Amino acid sequence: MRADAQAQPNIALIKYWGKRDIEQNLPAAGSLSVTLDSLWTKMSVEFSDALPVDQLVLNAAANDEMLPRISACLDRVAGTDRLRASVESESNFPIAAGLASSASAFAALVVATSKAAGQESDTLSLARIAGSVSGSAARSLYGGFVELQASDANIDVETIAEAGVWPLTVVIAVTEEGAKPVSSGEAMIRSAANSPFYSSWLEQQPADLVSARNAVLRKDFAQLAAVSEHNCLKMHSVMWASRPPVVYWNSATLSCMEAVRHLQDEGHAVFFTIDAGPQLKAICLSDETDLVRSALDGCAGVVRTMVSGLGAGATLLDSK
Ligand code: PMV
Repeated sequence: MRADAQAQPNIALIKYWGKRDIEQNLPAAGSLSVTLDSLWTKMSVEFSDALPVDQLVLNAAANDEMLPRISACLDRVAGTDRLRASVESESNFPIAAGLASSASAFAALVVATSKAAGQESDTLSLARIAGSVSGSAARSLYGGFVELQASDANIDVETIAEAGVWPLTVVIAVTEEGAKPVSSGEAMIRSAANSPFYSSWLEQQPADLVSARNAVLRKDFAQLAAVSEHNCLKMHSVMWASRPPVVYWNSATLSCMEAVRHLQDEGHAVFFTIDAGPQLKAICLSDETDLVRSALDGCAGVVRTMVSGLGAGATLLDSK
């Protein structure tokens, strides 16, 4: 009746931005990400016939705000006629601030829920359920370099290269710890509704995916850097041009971008990406890690940096 699971957030290099079906939360296009290793979310789920309602404890504090999404996810895995559950979640990084905390949370939640409900579910089925709650969460079921393909009916997700095959490092520059002003879901719907760039964004997505996939398979850092930065900047252009506009960056985000450009000009293997928040993620070859970290630490407005390698998909943990 109780199970524990752990998942790591993932950082998209080719972004998911836009929904084909809002009701089912199906992405309008594919995406490609790397799963991290040193940031994690642990989830424990315990079903009990003594509970009148679901309960959520997030980082040791009761939380009712996130509970509806958690309950909806429990329903999708265990059915609406399930027992009520006590869910406890712990993360070692800030949540709701553009660090993909919903990805690791819902990936860990589907794995723990399925086990606590006594099911033997396959990874893709769980990824599809996680994705129906938070699109990027589907990718955190898998480790390493992960590609998500979107079709009319469903998504397919797979690891295209294991983490150990190309051990890149991700340096995260945290520029603001608070929650973001507009949720990614709401911002995506706004982009699709009125950004003049949305349709060309979607048209170009398949070609960007092919380019990134080939770059990963050939370990071509320069190609991966070029297509990833281009894809990130296109996604933000789509949202900047929506009405009302969505601008997640702050001045420190731009300082970090400039620092990465400077390192690139000096010939270092590093590139940036930015998600629905003001944090900048620099991806580099592992021997560049210290240099990249100190450059980002030196940028005005950076609160702190975090370093992660690439890691595994969601896993069950031994229950306490
Ligand atoms: O999974 P969501 O709904 O939080 O959206 C994620 C959106 C981005 O992080 C900006 C891009 C991505 O592919 O992860």
